[in-house]
Amino acid sequence: MVDALVTGGRVLSPAVEDALRAVPRHLFLPGVDVADAYADGAVPVQHVDGAATSSASQPSMVAIMLEQLALRPGLRVLEIGAGTGWNAALMARMVGPAGHVTSVDIDPGLVASAAVHLAAAGTGDVELVCADGALGHPPGAPYDRIVLTVGSADVRPEWVAQLAPAGRLLVPLGVRGSQLSIAFDLGPDGVLRSDSVRGCSFIRLRGIGAERDAVVPLPGGGAVQVPADGPGVDAEAVATVLLDPRDPLTAGAALGYLTLGPQDVWDGFGLWLALTDLAAARLLPTGSGPVAGLDLPVSALVSPPGAEPGLAAAVLAEPRDSGVRTALAVRPFGPAGHPLAVRLLGALRAWWAAGCPGAPAWRITVWPEDGSPPAPGVVTVRTSAHRLLLDLPPVAAAPELRPPGPG
Ligand SMILES: C[S@@+](CC[C@H](N)C(=O)[O-])C[C@H]1O[C@@H](n2cnc3c(N)ncnc32)[C@H](O)[C@@H]1O
Repeated sequence: MVDALVTGGRVLSPAVEDALRAVPRHLFLPGVDVADAYADGAVPVQHVDGAATSSASQPSMVAIMLEQLALRPGLRVLEIGAGTGWNAALMARMVGPAGHVTSVDIDPGLVASAAVHLAAAGTGDVELVCADGALGHPPGAPYDRIVLTVGSADVRPEWVAQLAPAGRLLVPLGVRGSQLSIAFDLGPDGVLRSDSVRGCSFIRLRGIGAERDAVVPLPGGGAVQVPADGPGVDAEAVATVLLDPRDPLTAGAALGYLTLGPQDVWDGFGLWLALTDLAAARLLPTGSGPVAGLDLPVSALVSPPGAEPGLAAAVLAEPRDSGVRTALAVRPFGPAGHPLAVRLLGALRAWWAAGCPGAPAWRITVWPEDGSPPAPGVVTVRTSAHRLLLDLPPVAAAPELRPPGPG
């Protein structure tokens, strides 16, 4: 597993590699087949009403986040989302005996089993706490690092208040229906500035910080995720229009040569669309139901509730497991599908002109609500106590358009 993470570029530093090699993941997943424990997948360990409420996170995402955290011996770390305890054990290895890891989970059963796993792995130096991590853990503050391994739509003021000067907050943040793993550094002015941004997909916070972004189940299976600050979505209407496909639109002579892979669609154009158009939605599959036939990942524009029903989905022209980079196809559905598809193509052109930015290109700043006014010309999203500003560095030239082909 670790060899693959190194070769795949997920592990970059000797410290992260050492921790992953030293802490056996299977000890945190008793009862799970060893092959599954060392596959690059999240392993759900708890379900409520059929939905996973806890899992050992996907190893490649864990590696990416450990790199984003930039841990070193002696640091004090607070983790929110102890789960199996695996990530806490990895971090304890990295901060060493001179450092300290406190890990909080809202679920007492999970905290109890994490304690058993940590003991089995010989990691006795993690402090486990059963509490709602939305409030952080004031008794151990200040922390050099606060990391959430659970998704939040908010940058809670409690976390910022519990960071040491120049501390780092790493949070899978829900922004307009997309989730981004953002490492923020706290400046002396109280402003958080992103050091690195990656796409991610985490289970959401339970308790008082439960996310506001709407994930609306579709009748018949699948779900649609829309921005909390958008007009919302009529799930019945979405399920109905998906049964009414119209003629696909091509991207036109020039943009037809914009060749993309699944990652570009989800983290690149999908993120752009979500940030720049409040009608954006992510269609989430379940293997059956109306979304299943769309060969995901799918970003879409959806008519608001009450308007003429329609949906335009951005999909790859070739199946995503074909291994080729392909042009993007725009598939309209329902009576209002065509104008939405034209609007989606306009967004595709704007994304291309901006240099086809993916998640890592975005710079994100978090200002206290009562701080100085933000710079103009950026996407602004409000959270409970902050304004989030999303911004891109200027690009010299849009990427060259090449005919589709392998690669
Ligand atoms: C993806 S799992 C974390 C994986 C874990 N870091 C590991 O290595 O196994 C997310 C965890 O967040 C926990 N969680 C959800 N809401 C929480 C909250 N408000 N406070 C603390 N933990 C929470 C869940 O119970 C779940 O165990």
